[in-house]
Amino acid sequence: MSIAVAIDGPVGAGKSSIAKECAKRLGFIYVDTGAMYRCIGLFCDRNGVDMDDPVRVSAALSHISLDVKIKDGTQHIYLNGYDVSDEIRLPEISMAASKVSAIPAVRAFLLQLQRDMAESRDVIMDGRDIGTVVLPNATVKIYLTADAEVRAKRRYDELIAKGTAVSYESVLMDLKQRDHNDMTREIAPLKQADDAVLADTTELDFEGSCDLLVRIIKEKA
Ligand code: C5P
Repeated sequence: MSIAVAIDGPVGAGKSSIAKECAKRLGFIYVDTGAMYRCIGLFCDRNGVDMDDPVRVSAALSHISLDVKIKDGTQHIYLNGYDVSDEIRLPEISMAASKVSAIPAVRAFLLQLQRDMAESRDVIMDGRDIGTVVLPNATVKIYLTADAEVRAKRRYDELIAKGTAVSYESVLMDLKQRDHNDMTREIAPLKQADDAVLADTTELDFEGSCDLLVRIIKEKA
């Protein structure tokens, strides 16, 4: 039987970097579901699809094909044949992803793809609804969080290191807005699954956070 680890949590809790490192240590495949929502946001943004109009966004889905490939242990995501793994990280695409993710047709479009990726192999999958909706029978569920200010500072440092011009205040505001959107939407809102282990990394550095998660996974799997 394959092992599925579901990691959910708010923006900037370090889900992707920590999950990726844990997957490497454990020899699992890492699947970043946020990247899939970002691709849909990117497509709508670049093609002038009104993201406040669920009918238009739903219609756009028939023009979208997504492909996920693992290269040197890193996930690359292809939107209609193009590798958009870097482009989807732009701050405006974060907000676009947040908007489209509240549309039921978008979530339905991605659900099967996500489930297929966890089929018959050991995975760590991160997102907002993995333990609650996508993989309700996951072997291990973790709700990863940290104080909002700490998360914003980490996200800010990451963007600055990549050369993106942003202010700390705008990162904090954007983070709180996206968390609010994710936690209050009607479909698949972000919440801790009843059977998830809470991991708070406010006081931990990257290494400490990875050690904590690997320990939780080994204990439960
Ligand atoms: O995780 P990341 O910040 O890359 O996700 C981008 C956006 O996609 C989130 O703000 C959230 O609105 C949405 N998302 C989601 N469900 C997931 C993963 C991401 O709604 N499983």
